[in-house]
Amino acid sequence: MNYNQLKKVVAQAAINLILPKLNNKSIIGVGTGSTTNYFIDALAKYKSIFDGAVASSTTTAARLNKYGIPVYELNTVSDLEFYVDGADESDKHLNLIKGGGAALTREKIIAAVAKTFICIADASKLVPIIGAFPLPVEVIPMARSHVARELVKLGGDPVYREGILTDNGNIIIDVFNMQITNPVELEAKINAIVGVVTNGLFAARTADILLLGTPEGVETIKANQVENFQRV
Ligand code: 5RP
Repeated sequence: MNYNQLKKVVAQAAINLILPKLNNKSIIGVGTGSTTNYFIDALAKYKSIFDGAVASSTTTAARLNKYGIPVYELNTVSDLEFYVDGADESDKHLNLIKGGGAALTREKIIAAVAKTFICIADASKLVPIIGAFPLPVEVIPMARSHVARELVKLGGDPVYREGILTDNGNIIIDVFNMQITNPVELEAKINAIVGVVTNGLFAARTADILLLGTPEGVETIKANQVENFQRV
């Protein structure tokens, strides 16, 4: 199986996991990226059994709308049982790097609201230590140079992601070669730099469940607990 097939399989596994718990009042948080796109495609045929979705990007909102799935503003939603999203990297404790698709801030907000964050990813995303993937940081445009200098002080090599504006009108700096020995501490340190909106470390709030698509089947990993393989 290639990576796209693995992404499709984990997307279906996420559907199988949440389906029994959905009812006509359920609103689902939906992330951004190619794995999440497979999730949306698979979710569409069940649209009559849940109320709607909250989207982490305009791209995701457009895809949900295309299928006739109602998209709600997060501010109008008080209860979000599930958030389903991909990741660029995860360790076995479900600390994540996200933001390859520049949607990290809205993703982090929805993850904070959701009771259960289900991360869906192909096997290549699980790594012993996160940080080989450059860490995305969303930055207010006028603070670009200041934030870059502060990121150098933290040991990283910041690179401006050219030609990208986030849905919030900000820029992205990707930080290469960052040693991430303490993800919770680093997440807080980077967020404390004036001009940073947020960074792509999801460590203060990790995923709760990682569904990992491997050639042998879908592996279910829960935060702080590596389970046996569960085939689907
Ligand atoms: C977008 C993200 C994505 O979840 C991440 O980039 C993974 O994307 P894909 O599913 O295409 O591999 O964080 O901001």
